[in-house]
Amino acid sequence: MDSFYITTPIFYVNAKPHLGHAYTTTVADSVTRFHRLMGEETYFLTGTDEHGDKIVQAAEANNQTPQEYVDTISALFQDLWPQMNITNDDFIRTTEPRHIEVVQGILQKVFDSGDIYFGEYGGHYCFGCERFYTEKELVDGKCPDHQTVPEYIAEKNYFFKMSKYQNWLKDHINKNPDFIRPERYKNEVLSLLESGELEDLCISRPKSRLTWGIELPFDKDYVTYVWFDALINYLTALEYPEGEKFKKFWPKTNHLIAKDILKPHAVFWPTMLKAAGIEPFQNLNVHGYWLVEDTKMSKSIGNVVEPLAMKDKYGLDAFRYFLMRDMVFGQDSSFSEKALVGRLNAELANDLGNLFSRTLSMTHKYFEGVIPRPDVEDIIDAEIKKLGQDAMREFQDNFSEFKFSRGLEGLWKLVRGLNKYIDETAPWTLFKEKDMGRLSTVIYVLLENMRKIAVHLWPVMPEASEKMLEQLGITFDPEKISLPKELDVWGLLECGDTVAKTSNLFPRVELVEAKEEKPAKKGKGKKDKQKAKKAEMPEGITTIEFEDFQKLDLRVGTIKEVDKHPDADRLLLVRVDTGDDELRQVVAGIADFFAPADLVGKQVVVVCNLKPRKLRKQLSQGMILAVKNGEGLELLTVTAEVPGGSKVS
Ligand code: MSP
Repeated sequence: MDSFYITTPIFYVNAKPHLGHAYTTTVADSVTRFHRLMGEETYFLTGTDEHGDKIVQAAEANNQTPQEYVDTISALFQDLWPQMNITNDDFIRTTEPRHIEVVQGILQKVFDSGDIYFGEYGGHYCFGCERFYTEKELVDGKCPDHQTVPEYIAEKNYFFKMSKYQNWLKDHINKNPDFIRPERYKNEVLSLLESGELEDLCISRPKSRLTWGIELPFDKDYVTYVWFDALINYLTALEYPEGEKFKKFWPKTNHLIAKDILKPHAVFWPTMLKAAGIEPFQNLNVHGYWLVEDTKMSKSIGNVVEPLAMKDKYGLDAFRYFLMRDMVFGQDSSFSEKALVGRLNAELANDLGNLFSRTLSMTHKYFEGVIPRPDVEDIIDAEIKKLGQDAMREFQDNFSEFKFSRGLEGLWKLVRGLNKYIDETAPWTLFKEKDMGRLSTVIYVLLENMRKIAVHLWPVMPEASEKMLEQLGITFDPEKISLPKELDVWGLLECGDTVAKTSNLFPRVELVEAKEEKPAKKGKGKKDKQKAKKAEMPEGITTIEFEDFQKLDLRVGTIKEVDKHPDADRLLLVRVDTGDDELRQVVAGIADFFAPADLVGKQVVVVCNLKPRKLRKQLSQGMILAVKNGEGLELLTVTAEVPGGSKVS
């Protein structure tokens, strides 16, 4: 059986857990569950990082000893994770004896091999970062992170010969293109390695200055620098060096971090491993930052998002879904409850929730709740099966590559496809016409595809997925599920079993500001369609079929960046978030009417499937809809903000 090992950063215990910690840990949990259903043996590690200056200061401020303090905060993390349905296999604390032993073992090994030496060093030390900065790294003489002037400290310390491994690391990254992903972070690390000589890493602190750390095995007067201590946690948990777990899982190590700790993971860690004679990890997966109204979360601004508050307000699975769907892995994302509510209503309540409640209630109405045996087939059934296979493959491929947002978008093609299948097969008409042979197939196709959707959603929304399966008469058992097999297998749903009568998994929620936005009444759209069909068209107007209109991929996009076209005064290069992994560039002839800065943040309607073309050498991937207004021009927009990429229908 293939194996898979995933780790989160071990979090500092100087602050309570917030949205950022919850995001990384939720991703790790979803990925673990996904690999489990892909048939792999998984191991998932998280924990807390408990040594260093920062902890001593925080403990003092709290009138506690460092040990009392770390125990209290570490417990907050340990208590939170089960409430978020996080299924970590181990929780490591760097103050545990098992960890101290492994750190000292590795230090001794690297010392004995000659890669640790004693030297004098003077540098600009930032207490916030607990590291020395070179002149070059400071911005206006200040630490770029804390905006404080570091203290100049000269002292004797131990150094790790990191510089010795610079070329090896460059080579390794070049030979293993997935070693650091997404690519932008790989490029960032490569350019750092190419920009000059890598310095040796100071890996000790004199006890005269700091005692809260792991003692160096070869010098009692020193403790280990926090990063050298912390990174090794990933090995401790696998019982390095002799443990079975180490042998099984280490070759399949996937570290998960945000961009803030890229350098320690992408430079310090692989070179440390190399020096200790340990194979490098398999992948470093780097995500962006959750911002709140485009600013960093901070206690002093008071904009820290608390995961449990979101869970209580919207439900755990809806919150987990939003985190996985909204952030494009690798890029920063702005957290807003408005966007959360928008997605919840559009994608969970409308698309997924409606599919379940419509189909279950039809099964009751037409078959007394019993899953019918499929009978008469039609070409449309083969089409939806194919669509399902493609959607599931898209989900699986993208999830394997940490492209969660795209994966879920792929699966939603099936969710939406099935809603359309209901409209097109019109089961109510089949029932009226007593075409039970055809009706049986339609209902079976719907239910079997809903089963497939439910199992694919388990990694992201475990509780909801289990409930969906329960509603389909199935008891969830991860050992019986294989996502790869779901691509080809058909008919696992037992005919003759009974399904639930109703499903209200994702009730609509409303934001206070969105009150007047009443949800459309069920069936109203259909009546309107029928009315439109009957309405007479004035002469000379060409009508199109609804299917023709559906060919248009119209989406609401949020304008993120605008530049003037370098070679054309009337054109602007508008980059819009239309829900894709990358921003979409549209070359628009609107420079006479709008200044670039006025457009940023506006929501517009974009034709996304217009054939891309180059306009004066600049690629245009769509069209922004606008209305002429006398001499002026107005852009089509929406009455309330919706998530970028929302479909216009
Ligand atoms: N203790 C070190 C890590 C040592 S790992 C060997 C540390 N701890 S931390 O508490 O500061 O955690 C940083 C991590 O928390 C980020 O890399 C990310 O996983 C998560 N996040 C904290 N704030 C975040 C956001 N605003 N957005 C997304 N994730 C962020 O660094």
